[in-house]
Amino acid sequence: MSEFKIAVIVGSLRRDSFNRKLATALASLAPKEFAFKQLEIGDLPLYNQDDDAQQAASVLRLKSEISASQGVVFVTAEYNRSIPGVLKNAIDHASRPYGKSAWAGKPAGVIGVSVGAIGTSLAQQHLRNILAYLDMPTLGQPEAFIQAKEGLFDANGGLGADSVGFVQKWVDAYTAWVRQHA
Ligand code: FNR
Repeated sequence: MSEFKIAVIVGSLRRDSFNRKLATALASLAPKEFAFKQLEIGDLPLYNQDDDAQQAASVLRLKSEISASQGVVFVTAEYNRSIPGVLKNAIDHASRPYGKSAWAGKPAGVIGVSVGAIGTSLAQQHLRNILAYLDMPTLGQPEAFIQAKEGLFDANGGLGADSVGFVQKWVDAYTAWVRQHA
């Protein structure tokens, strides 16, 4: 069994999501003591505070998977210069009820890919603001703002030769961050 379970949240529900491909690639670059698992957020209801006392089964599942992890990686798209609503919805769900957040203390990593010239930098900055409030120690460097360009992924969906070194450095830094917080 892996020593470090990492919950991976992908901030896009698109079938051919670049961010999902990136999330899958991250898992393949992790040291053997680490198991990266992508969590489902597409089946969560829209968050409604009235439901805090009886959270849906999909919400309880998400919370228990986060609680059982030693870290959380957010691999997110940028929508209109912020994080996609599906990601914010998942974050809000797992932060509640008040005092029973699943996020607190989990070492976090933030990475993402978009078609824009500045990558997902603004979405990541907004996300960092949220993670600070949720009391998640978040890896500061290296930052990883990846632009989806020809050659980023190879024909099998893995990372292209020009990108793998950069992403490996990010994975190495994040996994060291998790070990530091264990
Ligand atoms: C986008 N896109 C986008 N890209 C970007 O770099 N900055 C942005 O603010 C936005 N805004 C935005 C809003 C909405 C509603 C959509 C649908 C798209 C483009 C985005 O980067 C592109 O669709 C990516 O492919 C999204 O990531 P996935 O789904 O491939 O992981």
